[in-house]
Amino acid sequence: MKVALPTAQSVAEAAQLLRDGKLVAFPTETVYGLGGDATNERAVAAIFEAKGRPEFNPLISHVLDAAAAQKLVRWNETADRLAARFWPGPLTLVLPRSPGSPISLLATAGLDTVAIRAPSHPVAQALIRATDRPIAAPSANRSGAISPTRAEHVVESLGERVPLILDGGPCLVGVESTVLDLSTATPTLLRPGGATREAIEAVIGPIAVSDALPSGDSARKSPGQLESHYAPARPVRLGASSVGADEGLLAFGPTVPPGAMLTYNLSPSGDLAEAAANLFAQMRLLDRPGIGRIAVMPIPETGLGLAINDRLRRAAAGDGTGRRG
Ligand code: TXA
Ligand code: MG
Repeated sequence: MKVALPTAQSVAEAAQLLRDGKLVAFPTETVYGLGGDATNERAVAAIFEAKGRPEFNPLISHVLDAAAAQKLVRWNETADRLAARFWPGPLTLVLPRSPGSPISLLATAGLDTVAIRAPSHPVAQALIRATDRPIAAPSANRSGAISPTRAEHVVESLGERVPLILDGGPCLVGVESTVLDLSTATPTLLRPGGATREAIEAVIGPIAVSDALPSGDSARKSPGQLESHYAPARPVRLGASSVGADEGLLAFGPTVPPGAMLTYNLSPSGDLAEAAANLFAQMRLLDRPGIGRIAVMPIPETGLGLAINDRLRRAAAGDGTGRRG
């Protein structure tokens, strides 16, 4: 495994690896991705293997722009308006696979839809351009673990399973892209993320929200059914207004309860964008020996708070064994 700063040379080397069916970890504005050639079944199989994903969850294919996306999916007018506003950026669109689409069947887990996004990170863009193929990339962590927002996190999680990691520094958004299904009559939010629901609705009007989300009613009735993702090894307690001496505290805002063993503040000023950018790195810092439990202060359920709370609920639903994701 090699970690390289992004230069013309390292990006060209990474592109060659991808074209040869090998894997490369690279920065995006959301989280680091574990990339493989999305048109190569064996490369995509290698992604699942490296992540230790127990099942074939469909992957996002990364492209440069809407023109490239239109070669892979059946594009529509809603997609056009959203891409004009959000691409490149943290919005993934799910659209029907177009006839003759070169995307690997394994990448879409046999579904007749394809998830696609154009990342805004310059290193991701340079890599896609140099590879000249769509790149399938889930977050570059072992299944069920916390998503990586720095190259060091990828090294810790995947190590020798990935031949080359491009180190583009910390990810600025910090939570994964918003996944929006446009293959149904009403656009449906499948995963809250870096593009806020409010901003999406400002462009295309009201959207539906998948009731499989942990904030959905069905999930609230049976929290044991929640998919465990982003799982730290320690238990996570949400909505903490006070804290125990054996707890590490993930704080938010200016007023922090005293007494925690260790405290990190997602955003002392209460800024949700700053909190999203710090979320995964601070969860990792609190997930360490000596700390019995991670307590998390309440985060407002607006804007990026939707994505932050979604990840926190999944972390709290975990049993510490990192079974899924
Ligand atoms: O920000 C991100 O999206 C990062 C960076 C690397 O781009 N990638 C990422 O990938 O988070 P991953 O594999 O961890 O999450 C992909 C999400 C999953 O929730 C998956 O179920 C959904 O996208 N997805 C992929 N293809 C889909 C499809 N055809 N239909 C519905 N959901 C799909
Ligand atoms: Mg992931």
